[in-house]
Amino acid sequence: MSEVPVRDVILSDAAVLAALHGVCFDRGWSVESMQTCLAAPGTFGLIAGHDLALGMVLARLSAGEAEILTICVHPDNRGVGVGRLLLDRAAALARDQGGKRLFLEVAARNAAAGALYRSANFRQIGKRANYYPAETSDDMPDDALLYVRELE
Ligand SMILES: CC(C)(COP(=O)(O)OP(=O)(O)OC[C@H]1O[C@@H](n2cnc3c(N)ncnc32)[C@H](O)[C@@H]1OP(=O)(O)O)[C@@H](O)C(=O)NCCC(=O)NCCS
Repeated sequence: MSEVPVRDVILSDAAVLAALHGVCFDRGWSVESMQTCLAAPGTFGLIAGHDLALGMVLARLSAGEAEILTICVHPDNRGVGVGRLLLDRAAALARDQGGKRLFLEVAARNAAAGALYRSANFRQIGKRANYYPAETSDDMPDDALLYVRELE
């Protein structure tokens, strides 16, 4: 995966990031939400790809504790290590800026993300039962699983 370029996100990436986010999530973030997120203190992010954005990660660091805010890889580019590359680079950035631990939260039914986090040395430390509401009348609420990775 080292051949995929990864660079820091800047505020003017908001539209590109929102477009990618919209492809990857049922409820993607708007450009305005992305701008607000990027402008918030402690926020940092990475974007993978040459001209096209293949993947992105946004995180926030505050008082030694970092959190993954969102991570996604374009559906055409999944399963080849881009997500892992972004997660590991974000963890390294957080550590270099003094972060001691990196937290994230994931829906229990999100098997791909769960596999990514476990393979990247995150361990589950908690669960919020029925945290995510059902999205359709046929659907059930889903648990949120809390994960952490030590950065030291
Ligand atoms: C989750 C996501 C970011 C993974 O990105 P990716 O680039 O496909 O992941 P990688 O190729 O780097 O895979 C990393 C590990 O996860 C595993 N994995 C990835 N997708 C998987 C899947 N669908 N099923 C099982 N395992 C999977 C890989 O096998 C790999 O394990 P390994 O390191 O032991 O070989 C991607 O599926 C995605 O964007 N999903 C939609 C958005 C989303 O759900 N984001 C997370 C919200 S919490």
